[in-house]
Amino acid sequence: MDHLSLSRPDDWHVHLRDGDAMAAIVGATARQFGRALVMPNLQPPITRVQEALSYRARILAGLNQEHPFNPLMALYLTEGTPKEEIARVAETPEVIGFKLYPQGATTHSEAGIRSLEALDPLLEALAHYQVPLMVHGEVTDSDIDIFDREALFIERYLEPMSQRFRSLRIVLEHISTREGVEFVERATGPIAGTLTAHHLLLNRNAMLVGGIQPHHYCLPVLKRETHRQALLAAATKGHPRFFLGTDSAPHLRSHKESSCGCAGCYTAHHAIELYATAFDQVGALDQLEGFASHHGADFYGLPRNTETIRLQRVPTEIPDALPFGEETVIPFMAGQTLPWTMTEAE
Ligand code: DOR
Ligand code: ZN
Repeated sequence: MDHLSLSRPDDWHVHLRDGDAMAAIVGATARQFGRALVMPNLQPPITRVQEALSYRARILAGLNQEHPFNPLMALYLTEGTPKEEIARVAETPEVIGFKLYPQGATTHSEAGIRSLEALDPLLEALAHYQVPLMVHGEVTDSDIDIFDREALFIERYLEPMSQRFRSLRIVLEHISTREGVEFVERATGPIAGTLTAHHLLLNRNAMLVGGIQPHHYCLPVLKRETHRQALLAAATKGHPRFFLGTDSAPHLRSHKESSCGCAGCYTAHHAIELYATAFDQVGALDQLEGFASHHGADFYGLPRNTETIRLQRVPTEIPDALPFGEETVIPFMAGQTLPWTMTEAE
């Protein structure tokens, strides 16, 4: 296959940051995607509908791409989230859910949830209003090995939570393990999962062999090859509850290449080409459109995009660095060549 057309894809999990940093990168997401679900982990976090709507206006203000781009917002769930705010989200089409960060799990998660046991009244309200909960699924206990944190979160919290609230709409974000895939596959309720391009393309060797590779450090951390294989199988089998969420998370180069580097891979610049490369590796390009353009919209109860994009088997060279605020960001797979290039449909 040398080219394929697909409905314009959506990115159901992206970090767009704010200010000059946002201005430098938002165009990359808007160029490829019709919609993006924008994460609320700014500092301070976006916890109210009003804040999300003004953040959304700032996102749109800097854009001038030709096709429509619709940023959809998630609020940051805290122990102090009022139930009225959940009702407000249910009435606000631009804000489509809440993001649950366990405290300490990742970048700017200081305001996250300390005690998941105490969350039941809020989970009940989310289920009542049918407002989706997007979950960063990792335990944060210091005695738990970082490679086990996702599997343990599912066993300890997510599985019981989904049993207690059977109508709660849950998205397990950036699944990185076989256990995460199995959780979504065996669920009978409204439960889905997003998969990133970096977790589909790399295993943990890419981060640790031949020297530490800070630009491959993300959270959840990359796992061993058997997990990557499980993720790739889930993405490419046409299962309607797995869909595209890049978790593209740009950081300044100096913050990544540091004695204590921060977590995140910046994939937005070539997102759909990265996914096409992963699907192509297992001969599953025919499954890309469902995963990238249909399943997410269907899960969120939104119309599928009607525009079309094209992917051609023409090499894309990924730049060594891109401008980012006062510095640069190193894109995922910097300096390498991908076999696919996206163009607008003619
Ligand atoms: O790698 C990550 N980076 N994982 C996250 O959960 C957050 C993100 C960020 O905001 O930098
Ligand atoms: Zn994220």
